[in-house]
Amino acid sequence: MKVFITQELPGNVEEYLLSQGFEVDLYKKNNIISKRELIKRAKEADGLIPLLTNSVDREVIDNLKRCKVIANVAVGYNNIDVAYAKSKNIIVTNTPGILDDATADLTLALILACARRLRVGDIFVRKNKFTAWMPQLMLGVELAGKTAGIIGAGRIGIEVAKRLLPFKTKIVYYSRNRKAEFEKVTGAKKVSLNALLKNSDIVSIHIPLNKNTYHILNRENMNLLKPTSILVNTSRGEVIEEKYLIEILKKKKIFAAGLDVYEGEPKINPELFKLDNVFLLPHIGSATTETRSKMAQLAAKNVAAVLSNKKPLTPV
Ligand code: NAP
Ligand code: GLV
Repeated sequence: MKVFITQELPGNVEEYLLSQGFEVDLYKKNNIISKRELIKRAKEADGLIPLLTNSVDREVIDNLKRCKVIANVAVGYNNIDVAYAKSKNIIVTNTPGILDDATADLTLALILACARRLRVGDIFVRKNKFTAWMPQLMLGVELAGKTAGIIGAGRIGIEVAKRLLPFKTKIVYYSRNRKAEFEKVTGAKKVSLNALLKNSDIVSIHIPLNKNTYHILNRENMNLLKPTSILVNTSRGEVIEEKYLIEILKKKKIFAAGLDVYEGEPKINPELFKLDNVFLLPHIGSATTETRSKMAQLAAKNVAAVLSNKKPLTPV
């Protein structure tokens, strides 16, 4: 049986699949495979290992003649038409849990970078502008005593909250359902989305992208944010109405934003480049050697399990 992988992966995944008796077809170019090429190569594959950058939509799924499993190398699966895959008896798997620490660490890095203006500070020093310690130079905001609002109190959300507590912040959260474990660990209360936006000094987003969460932060509710607040998004770009975020950043209606993800990425709205109060990263939430290896290995194990008529480890 053949497995098609849409890009080279860490974690000796190819070797693992070969050792399990599978044939492996690997897209070796260092770019995102085109839909045409993806369809051509995946057509006769029994298992597909795509990335979050590959759209596995109806057209692709309709062309999968033998596929039994699509094992996304990501926890988010908004790139896959899961319902349609299911209707074709194809199992979809993702990589939950193993990337929580890495993504939460990066979220904290963004929060701190925004709060203490790390980007402008670094540029300032490199431009040789640091002439003296000055009492009012590059003043940021302190985390101690502030309120952090977590939108989406799931696996990553709870890890972010746990990391914020030692910084002496109070936590509140918004999710559709009450999260007993989250409340127990963080002492947080569930609040409405509007109350969270109105009262939080730090807002961090950890919800999946789907039709309910698209533009969940929009021109109506982002007006509730405090002028001193920091907004960080390490979930998916499309959960924020980005054009409006740019507008409020320009008008300094919030203190700063930290973004790892963008609406329509990898294209970036060039207006973002002009702003000093935004910190930009290239979707690297889970990008540590350890975590990316584990993600790739989990995807491969899911494929091997399904193709060996066993239960997948982490089905969507
Ligand atoms: P998770 O454990 O499923 O947590 C997501 C939380 O969002 C759940 O607690 C869910 O709870 C809540 N939620 C879902 N729909 C909602 C809605 N409409 N309104 C409010 N809350 C909602 O997921 P995770 O593993 O933490 O991952 C979260 C997302 O992070 C992923 O889907 C992915 O897009 C993104 N991510 C990005 C990176 C990166 O590299 N930047 C890395 C990893 C993950 P309820 O349904 O009970 O409300
Ligand atoms: C990364 O964005 C993921 O969803 O794993």
